[in-house]
Amino acid sequence: MKNFDLDFVRSQFYAFDADNPLYQKAFFENAGGSFPCKFVVDKLTRFYETKKVQPYGYFNGSIEAGEEMDKSTEKLARLLRVPTNNLHVGPSTSQNTYVLANALRLSKTKRKTLIVSNQDHEANTGVWRNLATQGFEIREWGVRSNGSLYLEDLKQLIDCTVCLIALPHVSNIIGQVNPVEEICNLARESGAFTCVDGVSYAPHGIPQINDFNPDIYLFSSYKTFGPHLGVMYVSDNLAAELESQCHYFNKEFPNKRFTPAGPDHAQVSALGGIYDYYEALANHHLNNKSPLSFSTYDVNHLIASQEKKILKPLLDFLKTKTNVRLLGSYEVEDRVPTVSITIKKSNIALAKELNELDISVGAGDFYAVRLLNALNVDINEGVVRLSFVHYTSDSDVEKLISGLDQHL
Ligand SMILES: Cc1ncc(COP(=O)(O)O)c(C=O)c1O
Repeated sequence: MKNFDLDFVRSQFYAFDADNPLYQKAFFENAGGSFPCKFVVDKLTRFYETKKVQPYGYFNGSIEAGEEMDKSTEKLARLLRVPTNNLHVGPSTSQNTYVLANALRLSKTKRKTLIVSNQDHEANTGVWRNLATQGFEIREWGVRSNGSLYLEDLKQLIDCTVCLIALPHVSNIIGQVNPVEEICNLARESGAFTCVDGVSYAPHGIPQINDFNPDIYLFSSYKTFGPHLGVMYVSDNLAAELESQCHYFNKEFPNKRFTPAGPDHAQVSALGGIYDYYEALANHHLNNKSPLSFSTYDVNHLIASQEKKILKPLLDFLKTKTNVRLLGSYEVEDRVPTVSITIKKSNIALAKELNELDISVGAGDFYAVRLLNALNVDINEGVVRLSFVHYTSDSDVEKLISGLDQHL
């Protein structure tokens, strides 16, 4: 295996060769949205230029558009190692959970308890909590003072009335990876379904969904080097329980059942570009011989090792700063590179000051208001979030550390 080749990686993104002031900055708002890879942008552009007609028809162009969309979702399903029929593409994760909650509301389930966490982004908690008005009991799996969720606490909440457990794979604030395999096993043993929000996990390693068997797995492709869509896996067992949310005559099409708002066709056709990017990473770094058989595990490992390498100096630096509160762990092994801090003076002012130094960071609550409240963070100030991915350079991290040092 070759060492991680940052030049090669960055050459796969127009953002790094664009003559655009935004792209010249050290960019640390990747958890808000990553740059799309060239494969995705090229597919999107080509679709708009040459195939922007109603797909799945009987004339050339329309036939090709439909084929390209199908090929794209098949590739994505292969990357995630799930059957294509279980994969649904909607406009966003928030839209997808909204639709799923409605499907559950209209289902005939006799189990009427939902377990939700306060570690989630609101997209995977508010929609379920709202079902309290529809005869469901809501139990909250609360974080402890360090922001973490504990299995022992979850076990206290589970009984034979629980229908669904909603949780994040990774918190978009503290960056902690939750033990989803154990949680999904626990839920299954008690007959409950699981809904795992993988939005903050997927950019750091393509989830191999079969490995932990959730009933719902969600992520947003615009944070995973792709177009602005929400991707969701729904298990056959759960799909059979839920009420379809599509036109009545489309119920027999598995991929249409939970996507009433058909997403942009061009973006669907571009989703496969994420697969092509991973394949390019494998070909370049892993001496991959057969294009269709690269191991996503190996690529995930390559990416995660690089991320941990560049994350460590930042965490070590933050550890030395007594006037900074880091939310979550200082240990690289415990987390992805989504790092939230608060300082004594204004967090928003800090984000603005870093912008003056050509360092782009996020500030605010990131729709994780319940978690920030539980951690006694002032919601008006929120946190400063420093989030990076494998294409972030060591020199950008150095620049960030130096910028922070100047202002702390
Ligand atoms: C962890 C997490 N879940 C869900 C969402 C919602 O995703 P979308 O913007 O696709 O609705 C976000 C968006 O920031 C997120 O960070």
